[in-house]
Amino acid sequence: MSAQNTIHRMTAPQITARKGGEPIVCLTAYDAPTAAILDAHCDLILVGDSVGMVVHGLTTTVGVTLDMMIMHGQAVMRGAHKALVVVDLPFGSYEDSVETAFRSASRVMMETGCQAVKIESGSYAAETVRYLVERGIPVMSHVGLRPQSMNVLGGFRARGRTQAVEDEIIANAIAAAEAGSFAVVVEGTSVEIADKVTKAVGIPTIGIGASAGCDGQILVTPDMLGMFDRVPKFVKKYGTMKDMVETAVSEYHAEVTARTFPGEANTYKFK
Ligand code: KIV
Ligand code: NA
Repeated sequence: MSAQNTIHRMTAPQITARKGGEPIVCLTAYDAPTAAILDAHCDLILVGDSVGMVVHGLTTTVGVTLDMMIMHGQAVMRGAHKALVVVDLPFGSYEDSVETAFRSASRVMMETGCQAVKIESGSYAAETVRYLVERGIPVMSHVGLRPQSMNVLGGFRARGRTQAVEDEIIANAIAAAEAGSFAVVVEGTSVEIADKVTKAVGIPTIGIGASAGCDGQILVTPDMLGMFDRVPKFVKKYGTMKDMVETAVSEYHAEVTARTFPGEANTYKFK
């Protein structure tokens, strides 16, 4: 048996079994060293298509490609060995047909070694979830604010704060669960609707801008580490990464210009 097979990773059914139990801790990662740090603390690591915005500087996730997701998925899989790793299927890689979705999802799994994919769940998505799950691909669904649909929804605004969208969100979540999703992300809704979704489905809800009553939580890691000044209301900053980088880089600048770096400790002597 290869070393890889002896490593115990969290599985999709183990995540499902946590419904109503101990809260499921999730974060995003896009690179190996960050994934290695997160691995000890997270049940699930998502290689989110948020990578387009927080790493590549895009203004939306719509420009993220399958090749980008695969490259970041490979990096995360090299760093994480315990958490369940889920990779987002990006815009354009799964919506038009179940066959396209299977082709994209199987490529992601075969080329990264990840154990599951996530899709943003419009009303068409249940058929896709069922098709993938029946063919061996665990799927996490994603309802509420769906960033890949921001051009239709009109922006990154919280959803489900009115009766008008409540029915749609709950229906999408129930359809996703009945189709066989192992969990569902609920993003950018009122607390009330997130709680209704959590009660309505038998699979874990993973909240982001949703409710503490969800079965788990997820945040975009650079957001929660404090890499950006401006973040959505639902983000809590647990770190001051931007300030730390500013301080370190400005010190480096001062020492390089003063020729105090490199010092003796950082240079080699001729023998
Ligand atoms: O892309 C992402 O990071 C996500 C999470 C916010 C759920 O989809
Ligand atoms: Na995403």
